[in-house]
Amino acid sequence: MKKLIIANWKDHPETWGQAQELLARIEEHLRMIDHADRFELVICPPARYFSEVAPLLKEGALADITQLGAQDMTPEVLSVGARYVIIGHSDRRWKLGESDETVNAKLKTSLEQGLVPIVCLGERSRTGDWQGELASQAVATFRGMTPGQVSQCLIAYEPVWAISTNPDAVPDTPASAVQAMGVIRDTLVDQFDVSHPTFLYGGSVSPDNAADFLARPEISGVLVGGASVRSADFQKILTIVTTI
Ligand code: PGA
Repeated sequence: MKKLIIANWKDHPETWGQAQELLARIEEHLRMIDHADRFELVICPPARYFSEVAPLLKEGALADITQLGAQDMTPEVLSVGARYVIIGHSDRRWKLGESDETVNAKLKTSLEQGLVPIVCLGERSRTGDWQGELASQAVATFRGMTPGQVSQCLIAYEPVWAISTNPDAVPDTPASAVQAMGVIRDTLVDQFDVSHPTFLYGGSVSPDNAADFLARPEISGVLVGGASVRSADFQKILTIVTTI
Protein backbone atom coordinates (compact mmCIF):
# COMPACT_ATOMS: atom_id res chain seq x y z
CA MET A 1 0.00 0.00 0.00
CA LYS A 2 1.22 3.50 -0.84
CA LYS A 3 2.24 5.59 2.15
CA LEU A 4 0.10 8.63 2.84
CA ILE A 5 1.39 12.07 3.64
CA ILE A 6 -1.28 14.35 5.11
CA ALA A 7 -0.35 18.04 5.15
CA ASN A 8 -2.41 19.75 7.84
CA TRP A 9 -1.80 23.44 7.18
CA LYS A 10 -3.96 24.47 10.16
CA ASP A 11 -4.33 28.26 9.93
CA HIS A 12 -1.31 28.85 7.64
CA PRO A 13 0.07 30.33 5.45
CA GLU A 14 -1.01 33.82 6.40
CA THR A 15 -1.74 35.06 2.87
CA TRP A 16 -3.10 33.45 -0.29
CA GLY A 17 0.07 34.55 -2.10
CA GLN A 18 2.17 32.52 0.36
CA ALA A 19 -0.16 29.55 -0.03
CA GLN A 20 0.24 29.71 -3.83
CA GLU A 21 3.99 29.88 -3.43
CA LEU A 22 3.98 26.83 -1.12
CA LEU A 23 1.89 24.83 -3.61
CA ALA A 24 4.14 25.90 -6.48
CA ARG A 25 7.21 24.68 -4.57
CA ILE A 26 5.52 21.33 -3.83
CA GLU A 27 4.51 20.91 -7.48
CA GLU A 28 8.04 21.72 -8.65
CA HIS A 29 9.48 19.23 -6.16
CA LEU A 30 7.09 16.46 -7.21
CA ARG A 31 8.23 16.96 -10.80
CA MET A 32 11.88 16.62 -9.82
CA ILE A 33 11.87 13.59 -7.53
CA ASP A 34 11.97 9.99 -8.69
CA HIS A 35 9.25 7.57 -7.57
CA ALA A 36 6.68 10.21 -6.66
CA ASP A 37 4.17 7.44 -7.38
CA ARG A 38 5.19 5.69 -4.15
CA PHE A 39 2.97 7.86 -1.97
CA GLU A 40 -0.25 9.84 -1.91
CA LEU A 41 -0.41 13.40 -0.72
CA VAL A 42 -3.43 14.98 0.94
CA ILE A 43 -3.35 18.75 1.37
CA CYS A 44 -5.66 20.16 4.04
CA PRO A 45 -5.64 23.95 3.70
CA PRO A 46 -7.56 26.33 5.93
CA ALA A 47 -11.20 26.59 4.76
CA ARG A 48 -10.64 30.17 3.52
CA TYR A 49 -8.36 28.83 0.73
CA PHE A 50 -10.51 25.83 -0.26
CA SER A 51 -11.99 27.12 -3.45
CA GLU A 52 -8.65 28.46 -4.75
CA VAL A 53 -6.60 25.40 -3.75
CA ALA A 54 -9.03 22.82 -5.20
CA PRO A 55 -8.40 23.59 -8.93
CA LEU A 56 -4.63 23.97 -8.40
CA LEU A 57 -4.43 20.38 -7.12
CA LYS A 58 -5.65 19.22 -10.53
CA GLU A 59 -2.70 20.84 -12.32
CA GLY A 60 0.78 19.62 -13.25
CA ALA A 61 2.53 17.08 -11.05
CA LEU A 62 0.03 17.67 -8.24
CA ALA A 63 -2.77 16.14 -10.31
CA ASP A 64 -1.68 12.50 -10.11
CA ILE A 65 -0.64 12.39 -6.49
CA THR A 66 -2.57 14.97 -4.53
CA GLN A 67 -6.05 15.07 -3.05
CA LEU A 68 -7.86 17.81 -1.20
CA GLY A 69 -8.61 17.31 2.48
CA ALA A 70 -10.56 19.37 4.97
CA GLN A 71 -9.54 20.06 8.55
CA ASP A 72 -13.05 19.54 9.88
CA MET A 73 -16.45 18.25 8.71
CA THR A 74 -18.27 21.38 7.56
CA PRO A 75 -20.88 21.93 4.81
CA GLU A 76 -18.33 23.52 2.39
CA VAL A 77 -16.25 20.33 2.40
CA LEU A 78 -18.58 18.67 -0.07
CA SER A 79 -19.03 21.58 -2.45
CA VAL A 80 -15.27 22.04 -2.99
CA GLY A 81 -14.75 18.37 -3.78
CA ALA A 82 -12.64 17.34 -0.78
CA ARG A 83 -11.96 13.61 -0.64
CA TYR A 84 -10.53 13.39 2.90
CA VAL A 85 -11.56 15.05 6.14
CA ILE A 86 -9.76 15.28 9.48
CA ILE A 87 -12.14 14.47 12.33
CA GLY A 88 -11.53 14.95 16.06
CA HIS A 89 -8.22 16.79 15.85
CA SER A 90 -6.93 17.51 19.35
CA ASP A 91 -7.20 21.29 18.74
CA ARG A 92 -10.94 20.77 18.33
CA ARG A 93 -11.28 18.28 21.17
CA TRP A 94 -9.21 20.14 23.75
CA LYS A 95 -8.99 23.76 22.65
CA LEU A 96 -12.55 24.15 21.29
CA GLY A 97 -14.16 21.62 23.62
CA GLU A 98 -15.57 19.34 20.90
CA SER A 99 -17.19 16.38 22.65
CA ASP A 100 -16.85 12.71 21.74
CA GLU A 101 -20.53 12.80 20.71
CA THR A 102 -19.89 15.63 18.24
CA VAL A 103 -16.80 13.87 16.88
CA ASN A 104 -18.85 10.68 16.48
CA ALA A 105 -21.68 12.52 14.68
CA LYS A 106 -19.24 14.27 12.30
CA LEU A 107 -17.53 10.96 11.62
CA LYS A 108 -20.81 9.29 10.68
CA THR A 109 -21.74 12.24 8.44
CA SER A 110 -18.39 12.12 6.67
CA LEU A 111 -18.87 8.42 5.86
CA GLU A 112 -22.44 8.98 4.68
CA GLN A 113 -21.08 11.64 2.32
CA GLY A 114 -18.51 9.24 0.88
CA LEU A 115 -15.46 11.01 2.35
CA VAL A 116 -12.42 9.27 3.81
CA PRO A 117 -12.20 10.30 7.47
CA ILE A 118 -8.82 10.79 9.11
CA VAL A 119 -9.80 10.22 12.72
CA CYS A 120 -7.44 11.66 15.34
CA LEU A 121 -7.01 9.82 18.62
CA GLY A 122 -4.45 10.54 21.30
CA GLU A 123 -3.89 10.76 25.02
CA ARG A 124 -3.10 14.08 26.69
CA SER A 125 -0.09 12.80 28.62
CA ARG A 126 1.75 9.59 29.36
CA THR A 127 1.04 9.78 33.08
CA GLY A 128 -1.52 7.59 34.85
CA ASP A 129 -3.78 5.26 32.90
CA TRP A 130 -3.08 6.71 29.45
CA GLN A 131 -3.94 3.41 27.79
CA GLY A 132 -7.38 3.53 29.43
CA GLU A 133 -7.86 7.12 28.20
CA LEU A 134 -6.96 6.10 24.66
CA ALA A 135 -9.20 3.02 24.74
CA SER A 136 -12.24 4.94 25.99
CA GLN A 137 -11.68 7.73 23.48
CA ALA A 138 -11.64 5.11 20.71
CA VAL A 139 -14.87 3.51 21.95
CA ALA A 140 -16.67 6.88 22.22
CA THR A 141 -15.38 8.08 18.85
CA PHE A 142 -16.56 5.01 16.92
CA ARG A 143 -19.71 4.33 18.98
CA GLY A 144 -22.57 2.78 16.98
CA MET A 145 -20.45 2.09 13.91
CA THR A 146 -20.24 -1.20 12.01
CA PRO A 147 -16.93 -3.03 11.45
CA GLY A 148 -17.11 -1.97 7.79
CA GLN A 149 -17.49 1.70 8.71
CA VAL A 150 -14.64 1.63 11.24
CA SER A 151 -12.42 -0.10 8.69
CA GLN A 152 -12.97 2.71 6.18
CA CYS A 153 -11.38 5.23 8.57
CA LEU A 154 -7.73 6.20 8.66
CA ILE A 155 -6.78 6.44 12.32
CA ALA A 156 -4.22 9.12 13.10
CA TYR A 157 -2.58 8.38 16.42
CA GLU A 158 -1.64 11.87 17.57
CA PRO A 159 -0.52 12.05 21.19
CA VAL A 160 -1.50 15.54 22.30
CA TRP A 161 1.80 16.04 24.15
CA ALA A 162 3.70 15.50 20.89
CA ILE A 163 1.88 18.11 18.79
CA SER A 164 4.24 20.96 18.01
CA THR A 165 1.89 23.77 19.03
CA ASN A 166 1.90 22.52 22.62
CA PRO A 167 4.56 23.80 24.99
CA ASP A 168 7.39 21.32 25.56
CA ALA A 169 6.20 19.12 22.67
CA VAL A 170 8.49 16.22 21.81
CA PRO A 171 7.83 13.74 19.03
CA ASP A 172 6.85 10.25 20.07
CA THR A 173 9.20 7.46 19.04
CA PRO A 174 8.08 4.94 16.42
CA ALA A 175 8.25 2.05 18.93
CA SER A 176 6.13 3.86 21.48
CA ALA A 177 3.64 5.07 18.84
CA VAL A 178 3.25 1.50 17.60
CA GLN A 179 2.63 0.40 21.19
CA ALA A 180 -0.17 3.00 21.52
CA MET A 181 -1.62 1.90 18.17
CA GLY A 182 -1.68 -1.61 19.65
CA VAL A 183 -3.86 -0.31 22.50
CA ILE A 184 -6.27 1.20 19.96
CA ARG A 185 -6.23 -1.93 17.82
CA ASP A 186 -6.96 -4.21 20.80
CA THR A 187 -9.92 -1.97 21.67
CA LEU A 188 -11.24 -2.07 18.12
CA VAL A 189 -10.90 -5.86 17.94
CA ASP A 190 -12.71 -6.21 21.25
CA GLN A 191 -15.47 -3.64 20.79
CA PHE A 192 -15.99 -3.36 17.03
CA ASP A 193 -14.63 -6.60 15.61
CA VAL A 194 -12.09 -4.68 13.53
CA SER A 195 -8.70 -6.32 13.46
CA HIS A 196 -6.73 -4.43 10.79
CA PRO A 197 -7.28 -0.70 11.23
CA THR A 198 -5.10 1.63 9.18
CA PHE A 199 -2.85 3.85 11.30
CA LEU A 200 -1.08 7.12 10.64
CA TYR A 201 1.20 8.91 13.08
CA GLY A 202 1.07 12.65 13.82
CA GLY A 203 2.93 14.86 16.29
CA SER A 204 6.07 16.89 15.49
CA VAL A 205 6.85 14.91 12.34
CA SER A 206 9.94 16.45 10.72
CA PRO A 207 12.63 15.55 8.18
CA ASP A 208 14.63 14.18 11.14
CA ASN A 209 12.09 11.54 12.19
CA ALA A 210 9.80 10.95 9.17
CA ALA A 211 11.83 8.02 7.80
CA ASP A 212 11.72 6.19 11.14
CA PHE A 213 7.93 6.44 11.39
CA LEU A 214 7.30 5.68 7.71
CA ALA A 215 9.60 2.65 7.74
CA ARG A 216 7.37 0.86 10.27
CA PRO A 217 4.98 -1.53 8.51
CA GLU A 218 2.33 -0.78 11.16
CA ILE A 219 2.34 2.93 10.16
CA SER A 220 0.68 3.70 6.82
CA GLY A 221 1.55 7.38 6.75
CA VAL A 222 2.13 10.58 8.66
CA LEU A 223 0.02 13.62 9.46
CA VAL A 224 2.33 16.61 9.25
CA GLY A 225 1.37 19.95 10.80
CA GLY A 226 4.04 22.63 11.30
CA ALA A 227 6.56 21.09 8.88
CA SER A 228 3.96 20.95 6.09
CA VAL A 229 4.01 24.74 5.71
CA ARG A 230 7.80 25.01 5.92
CA SER A 231 8.57 24.51 2.27
CA ALA A 232 12.12 23.13 2.59
CA ASP A 233 11.19 20.74 5.41
CA PHE A 234 8.14 19.48 3.57
CA GLN A 235 10.10 18.86 0.39
CA LYS A 236 12.58 16.80 2.42
CA ILE A 237 9.72 14.72 3.85
CA LEU A 238 8.40 14.10 0.33
CA THR A 239 11.83 12.94 -0.78
CA ILE A 240 12.11 10.67 2.27
CA VAL A 241 8.81 8.91 1.58
CA THR A 242 10.00 7.93 -1.90
CA THR A 243 12.89 6.02 -0.35
CA ILE A 244 10.76 3.87 1.98
P1 PGA B 1 2.60 19.04 14.20
O1 PGA B 1 1.00 18.97 14.05
O2 PGA B 1 3.19 18.21 13.11
O3 PGA B 1 2.90 20.52 14.02
O4 PGA B 1 2.94 18.54 15.55
C1 PGA B 1 0.35 17.77 13.82
C2 PGA B 1 -1.13 18.02 13.94
O5 PGA B 1 -1.53 18.82 14.80
O6 PGA B 1 -1.93 17.43 13.21
